[in-house]
Amino acid sequence: MSDEKRFDELLIKLSQEIQQVKDNPISLNLATSATTSAIQTYIVTLTEPTTVKNVEVRLFGKTGVITSGFSDLGKLPVDKKREVGEQRKQTVEALQVPIRARTSELQAQALEKNLTTQAVDVTLPVREAPAETGRVHPITQVTDELTAIFADMGFAVAEGPDIETDDYNFTKLNFPEGHPAREMHDTFYFPPKPDGSRLLLRTHTSPVQVRTMLRQKPPIRVICPGRTYRSDSDQTHTPMFHQVEGLVIDKGSHLGHLKWILEEFCKAFFEVDNVKMRFRPSFFPFTEPSLEVDIQCRRDKDEIRFGEGDDWMEILGCGMVHPNVLRNCGLDPDEYQGFAWGLGIDRIAMLKYGMHDLRAFFEADVRWLAHYGFRPLDFPTLAGGLSP
Ligand code: DAH
Repeated sequence: MSDEKRFDELLIKLSQEIQQVKDNPISLNLATSATTSAIQTYIVTLTEPTTVKNVEVRLFGKTGVITSGFSDLGKLPVDKKREVGEQRKQTVEALQVPIRARTSELQAQALEKNLTTQAVDVTLPVREAPAETGRVHPITQVTDELTAIFADMGFAVAEGPDIETDDYNFTKLNFPEGHPAREMHDTFYFPPKPDGSRLLLRTHTSPVQVRTMLRQKPPIRVICPGRTYRSDSDQTHTPMFHQVEGLVIDKGSHLGHLKWILEEFCKAFFEVDNVKMRFRPSFFPFTEPSLEVDIQCRRDKDEIRFGEGDDWMEILGCGMVHPNVLRNCGLDPDEYQGFAWGLGIDRIAMLKYGMHDLRAFFEADVRWLAHYGFRPLDFPTLAGGLSP
């Protein structure tokens, strides 16, 4: 006979015995009867919390054997109530105590099992934390890299607005009236104001030089990274791009300092011990003399290696700040002199990390970013290494 069947029979027996005690109270002690102790034994053998619950329901539920068997207590004469009540209480306890005990035993067993099967294996490799699944855009990474390098040389970071005045973007920087960069098709202009002046999207970071000189007395040693805009679009040009400007103004700053700074920068940024550099004469309205700088490289099929080979790659423009610019910014060119340079951040990012199409930088394609982006916690430092 199955255990459940046996339990069914025990219940029938129990309800018969309840009836028997009602007819003849001294014929049986229900709390210690053979039926009650058989039910107690059955409860101890149960292995599932649900079957214990079932036993409880069938004894003490709404239509349970005990509930219905003992439901006449209120109707008993007062003199009997107390005595019968006391006996029944003992029977109830005799059955309830093992149910409670078994329930908590099974709960403890289940908890123990969970603790062993769901234990944390501390030897498992770390899964990527949510903060690690995002990627830092190469522009941000390279801006952080070059900021770390120049900060180490004592440069502060200066910033200016993307929307500039024509005066700061061109006039104070010594651009003559008819200069080609001022053409409508090269520069994004806002509609003219009533006084005829026009705001524009800055075409370079050089207006931040002007703002810095107007605001602060020399010695000045700043870099100015930021967004710049020109009406241009192909594989290596986008309407918005990024530059970093450098500016040093002091009493004795000269081209030798400029060359040393740029050489140190290139070695640190491209992470090579030595790199030959070539300074070629050039022209910018805001510098005199003006120079363009090439760095030594080797082109291997699709790859470019810096600091080796005998090819050259142009990377930046620079020069001594033009006396007119110093004057326009309230500095006396007989007292102060300095130098400046301008560098395309996107361009050096492409060169360092082997990216070929600048337009992909701004298409917000997460697959591209997952491939070319950087882990957010690997930020560049000179001590820890620039590129991860
Ligand atoms: N402003 C120049 C450009 O956008 C870059 C530049 C060249 C900046 C020479 C300088 C400099 O400060 O000295 O092409």
